Amino acid sequence: MKLEVAAVGKDYLIPVIDSVSFAAEAGDFVCLLGPNGCGKTTLLRIVGGIEPATRGRVTLDGHAVIADQRHVRKVGVVFQEDRLLPWMTLRDNVGLVLTPLGLAAAERAATADRYLKLAGLGGFEDYYPGRVSGGMRQRAAIARALAIEPDLLLMDEPFGALDAQNRRIMQTEVRRIWRQTGRTIVFVTHSIEEAVAIGTTLVMLSARPSRVRELIKNDGHVERAKLVDDLNTMIMEEVERQQGAGPGA
Ligand SMILES: Nc1ncnc2c1ncn2[C@@H]1O[C@H](COP(=O)(O)OP(=O)(O)O)[C@@H](O)[C@H]1O
Ligand SMILES: [Mg+2]
Repeated sequence: MKLEVAAVGKDYLIPVIDSVSFAAEAGDFVCLLGPNGCGKTTLLRIVGGIEPATRGRVTLDGHAVIADQRHVRKVGVVFQEDRLLPWMTLRDNVGLVLTPLGLAAAERAATADRYLKLAGLGGFEDYYPGRVSGGMRQRAAIARALAIEPDLLLMDEPFGALDAQNRRIMQTEVRRIWRQTGRTIVFVTHSIEEAVAIGTTLVMLSARPSRVRELIKNDGHVERAKLVDDLNTMIMEEVERQQGAGPGA
């Protein structure tokens, strides 16, 4: 599934995204980086068809994404919080998103179990969210997003709430799931180390109103430590520029 973001912009009370363009081929793992408040979440919501753009166009395999319309293409979203329902087992939480697809109950449960297993939660299907760790809840949220077999998977700082160790484990897991399922992923993170560790394409946004400051193919042509250094310098410059521009909204 090919994603194209073409000159997308968004104004709220102030312009948040000036104009952002990038493309992802099937199987790409795009990491979106940029200073806090530069519009990363907004951009993800536009790409997911949750929010309309003020300018520009998003297409999936050439079909325009129009906010609040049902699409032929399926998009899975993982938010920073797991958003699981505490009164439902992990199996039922995952199964719930399959209800609109018209699957019978047994089929929903079987599909939920398959994706929970893929996310490393085999054996925990009957557990309630409150009985498992934060890392496991986030895995369940990933299983839920994958269960609809999305053409595109959007992840907004999904490991922000995890400690360093769980974060590293989840980075490895997401890479593994990405390889096994061949999904196109757009992943927002404020961690440069995380982006360099897992992304194939790194998109660094500038200060608000944002543009693409740098688009880097992370295919080993630049040494990792140097890439992290360069990106850290860039983000510090953009954070300063954004602070210089005042609080904005
Ligand atoms: N629904 C909204 N209405 C008004 N302003 C918003 C809305 N959503 C986000 N913003 C503003 O847009 C800017 C970018 O927000 P966001 O996309 O969350 O940035 P990021 O995810 O990069 O931190 C912020 O200044 C924020 O206050
Ligand atoms: Mg955000």
